[in-house]
Amino acid sequence: MSIQWFPGHMAKARREVTEALKLVDVVIEIVDARLPVSSRNPMMAEVTQNKPIVIVLGKADMADDGMTALFRDQWKKNLHVPVVAVDNLHGQGMNILIEAAKQATADKFAKMAKKGIRRKTIRAMVVGIPNVGKSTMINRLAKRSAAKTGDKPGVTKQQQWIKVGQELELLDTPGILWPKFDDRDVALRLAWSGAIKSTLLESQELALELLSWLNKQYPQALQNRYQFSSMTMTSAEMLEEIGAKRVAKKAQDVIDVERAAELVLRDVQTGLLGRITFDELTMLDSFGDQA
Ligand code: G4P
Repeated sequence: MSIQWFPGHMAKARREVTEALKLVDVVIEIVDARLPVSSRNPMMAEVTQNKPIVIVLGKADMADDGMTALFRDQWKKNLHVPVVAVDNLHGQGMNILIEAAKQATADKFAKMAKKGIRRKTIRAMVVGIPNVGKSTMINRLAKRSAAKTGDKPGVTKQQQWIKVGQELELLDTPGILWPKFDDRDVALRLAWSGAIKSTLLESQELALELLSWLNKQYPQALQNRYQFSSMTMTSAEMLEEIGAKRVAKKAQDVIDVERAAELVLRDVQTGLLGRITFDELTMLDSFGDQA
């Protein structure tokens, strides 16, 4: 899953996606609904140029419903593009997505029709950072179960078109771009969600920041899961207590804080604290998505 992105990779990925984009009418940009801002490619607007775009909030089943609705409405209003929440695992939202692709390309198709060009199917490609559910969504739309594409930056060669119903054709390999990982807030959230491996940040540091953030944003979920002995603990005390209660001791009486940290991250990533959205609406500013 984890790709090491170097400037060379980024340039190549961008070039490949730009090439593939020439073949399609609409870009389906998928982000993770739990971190819609942090899981966007920072150059998406430049990469897609003026292509019609549909934004998909994937993994909506794991995100906070209220926040998903707020992000969706804000982006619809600010970016003037269709925004659709989907759950790829259960196939929720797929028909709405196909409708959104039609809506996004309606103008273009009307203009083509005026010039006498008639095409029945809309051509689309899926683009997004690693691990947001691109392959799962393509497979879901194609009604197939296998075909993992592997995480290579850009787009793999020899693409094929997959028919999705009567009106949509999809490139079978997604475009893979990079997240904005030079921003600490973004990197934290990518790591909390499991989208990037926590090699850059130690598990302990990540878990401490996560506990402190959860304590502000989702205190009830935190308390329900870990049943802390006090409501006024610091994140370090919380981690110690989780370690003491749930993880085997390292040596006699030595709490394994590292494993406690990994447990917290895993709990959150697998949804054991419930549906959580890591990004906050104020983060829209950092992408200029507010304008
Ligand atoms: P990518 O192509 O963008 O890299 O992502 P991919 O489809 O491989 O999906 C990454 C992980 O996210 C997979 O889990 C996949 O099952 C999960 N996923 C994708 N869409 C959704 C969704 O809408 N909801 C939920 N809850 N999960 C989703 P994995 O554990 O990495 O792989 P696997 O064990 O499922 O094979």
